[in-house]
Amino acid sequence: RFDIRGFVRSLAMIYTIESINNSTLLPGIKLGYEICDTCSDVSRAIPMTMKFLSKSNSTKKCVDVRCNYTNYIPTVKAVVGPGYSEISIAVSRILSFFLIPQISYASSAPALSEKTRFSSFLRTVPSDIHQTEALAKLVNTFHWNYVGIIGGDDDYGRSALEKFIHHAKNQSVCIEFQEHIPTYIDHKQSENKIQSIAHKIKHSRSATILLFVKGPLIIKLFTELLKQNVTRTWIASDVWSTSKEVARMKNIGKIGTILGLSFKNGNIKGFNEYLQNLRPGPDATNLFIEEYKKLRFGCTQDDLNYNCNDDYLVKNIEHGGAYGAYLAVTAIAQSLRNILKCQEGTCDRTVKFAPWQV
Ligand SMILES: *[C@@H]1O[C@H](CO)[C@@H](O)[C@H](O)[C@H]1NC(C)=O
Ligand SMILES: *[C@@H]1O[C@H](CO)[C@@H](O)[C@H](O)[C@H]1NC(C)=O
Ligand SMILES: *[C@@H]1O[C@H](CO)[C@@H](O)[C@H](O)[C@H]1NC(C)=O
Ligand SMILES: *[C@@H]1O[C@H](CO)[C@@H](O)[C@H](O)[C@H]1NC(C)=O
Ligand SMILES: *[C@@H]1O[C@H](CO)[C@@H](O)[C@H](O)[C@H]1NC(C)=O
Repeated sequence: RFDIRGFVRSLAMIYTIESINNSTLLPGIKLGYEICDTCSDVSRAIPMTMKFLSKSNSTKKCVDVRCNYTNYIPTVKAVVGPGYSEISIAVSRILSFFLIPQISYASSAPALSEKTRFSSFLRTVPSDIHQTEALAKLVNTFHWNYVGIIGGDDDYGRSALEKFIHHAKNQSVCIEFQEHIPTYIDHKQSENKIQSIAHKIKHSRSATILLFVKGPLIIKLFTELLKQNVTRTWIASDVWSTSKEVARMKNIGKIGTILGLSFKNGNIKGFNEYLQNLRPGPDATNLFIEEYKKLRFGCTQDDLNYNCNDDYLVKNIEHGGAYGAYLAVTAIAQSLRNILKCQEGTCDRTVKFAPWQV
């Protein structure tokens, strides 16, 4: 499946890099990038991270085994992303060892704030500590004091449930049941669990259910609940509250009421126009843009640069993520501006600084 959300976020990153290149922020310096698709899978994300660690200026695309990495300079100076917390946690274990700054635009798991474990991890979204507290207050405000909670069986879902339960106690909210959905989509185990959770919800007293589960699994669960005519008030965490795919589900209006939280957003100046005139760029190759244009417009190779555009992507910018990616790139560029001592139209042109300096 082509993931529009991840695609738009990666375009926000590219757009920000190009805008910085065209601006006077880093005079004489051009930023470059490489993008990898983790497919939301840790075992894919790890080898890609290893590739980023290959030695600077080396033709080999792999990391040397050494006894001492103090003076090791890898190709990549900073990493933006990934989105899901459990992928960030795995990737950060490696990047933190090399002290390569990693800035996620969406990973909100509280564990990622622990500097002793994730020393070079940073983010442009707040930790879920705050979100779960806000949700407990929200539930209490509306006197929905009897609720069910469901999380994905991953770092995000488990920690969100744990923190919510903690805050719920202070708000005198009772938890009727808590469940975890395995995060493997289209796996028999997940399908069975979704069926049993749907059954549980149907026969529960709780009028309100909180869901800390990724969008694709919400779609599976709601499909099942719609079949069984189940109606409730659903509370969405940031991971799916702005999902266009959920909002576009057939008969979604019959599921009841959905309320959710998302993170503070801002406007990326010029980004809409960029999306409406999308092209791989003067010298760049971007297989994701090519694939998108082929899928959406049936575009041929020759058309890719100038034709085949509409406002579909603009309509699919989701609250938060794209802006978070913009902030992440901007933070890295500001840091480079300090390291390279940029002033009065010039910067040091050296690239021989270590990632920890960023
Ligand atoms: C950067 O400048 C190039 C060349 O003028 C232009 O084609 C491109 O659209 C600009 N990109 C952004 C993001 O401003
Ligand atoms: C940065 O901008 C320069 C000049 O517009 C361009 O040559 C280069 O390809 C751009 N790099 C990226 C990653 O967009
Ligand atoms: C690693 O190399 C650095 C710089 O050469 C040196 O200061 C440090 O003591 C070395 N660490 C170990 C454990 O050998
Ligand atoms: C759901 O409602 C529809 C229309 O009212 C009805 O035809 C169907 O049998 C119901 N399904 C279940 C599982 O109750
Ligand atoms: C990589 O090679 C270029 C050109 O030979 C040189 O200018 C640059 O300093 C080298 N980078 C590092 C990190 O050694």
